[in-house]
Amino acid sequence: MTDDEMDQIDRNRRHFLTIATAVTGLAGVGLVAVPFLSSLKPSARAQALGAPVEVPLGSLAPGEMVRVLWRGKLVFVLRREEEMLKLLPDNDDQLKDPHSEKTEQQPAYAANEVRAVRPEYLVVEGSCTHLGCAPIEDFAVRPADGWNGGFFCPCHGSKFDLAGRVFKGVPAPTNLRVPPYRFVRDDLLLIGQDTGAA
Ligand code: FES
Repeated sequence: MTDDEMDQIDRNRRHFLTIATAVTGLAGVGLVAVPFLSSLKPSARAQALGAPVEVPLGSLAPGEMVRVLWRGKLVFVLRREEEMLKLLPDNDDQLKDPHSEKTEQQPAYAANEVRAVRPEYLVVEGSCTHLGCAPIEDFAVRPADGWNGGFFCPCHGSKFDLAGRVFKGVPAPTNLRVPPYRFVRDDLLLIGQDTGAA
């Protein structure tokens, strides 16, 4: 092999090493870039700090409830059936605040008989107003017990109806809190942001 041929082989080897290093370097950038980009998206941490949370409603059937987290708090979204709504006024005499007069427990647009923007959807924080336990749903109507469906707190027995209104004679002092919310579309709810009106 001549000296010229040896030089050419050396040049080709150096060129290959340069390309290989560049490719490895780009791969490294790729590996670093993915977590960086994903950290720019609204994250669970950002939501915990207060970002609004979208709740798709398209697959929520009447009588079904979903639990979502907003600012680290549990929120119940219940799609109430017509029958559930009809029974609400029957509870009024047994409730501490049937007309939502404690204004800090809900935005003004939810201070009505159904405590909601749209009667069909109840949106309340899943935190008992006694000491903060998560109430359990009990939607079965039991006329013999005078129970029209609602929520039961497993810690000290507080009871709430299907508008999140607290019954008399239990430790919880107030109705379940309604967070700010609005409907972006018929089938999309946004918790944590409103327009100040229904
Ligand atoms: S925390 Fe619910 S009744 Fe005490």
